[in-house]
Amino acid sequence: MKILMVCLGNICRSPLAEGILKHYIKREKLDWFVDSAGTGAWHIGNPPDPRSIEVAKKHGIDISDQRARKIRSSDFEEFDVIFAMDSSNYNDLQRYALDDEEKEKIKFILNETKPNQNNSVPDPYWDDNGFEKVYQMLDIACKSFIEKHR
Ligand code: 4NP
Repeated sequence: MKILMVCLGNICRSPLAEGILKHYIKREKLDWFVDSAGTGAWHIGNPPDPRSIEVAKKHGIDISDQRARKIRSSDFEEFDVIFAMDSSNYNDLQRYALDDEEKEKIKFILNETKPNQNNSVPDPYWDDNGFEKVYQMLDIACKSFIEKHR
């Protein structure tokens, strides 16, 4: 299975989601591929936000090697599941998708925790205290996804 995590900048939320899911994939010895991307281009080539690196490190996960990139049209062919962190990412991704098959790959990551609610992971960029909460939300969602699909 190939899973893509998507947020706005690809420096705060989706790098954490990528790191957490990779962590569980390794633990379960699954042959899955995970990547992340942003809908915006401001941070292309940058490492994750230091606050995301820090909170991941606190939980034993190293995301410092990741580099931000922008979503591209080939992602909709390559990946099986494309997880949006929030409704704005979801709507942007829906506009990128070329047909219904591509659109069906786009899912709200928090629906893994609470199905059909279409809840958003809050953007922690402007909130130094938001990173641990975001980590916990993504951790639960990734665990649920792994439980269902491993
Ligand atoms: P992310 O957070 O989408 O979780 O990576 C953001 C990072 C940067 C910006 C906005 C959100 N920005 O405006 O630069």
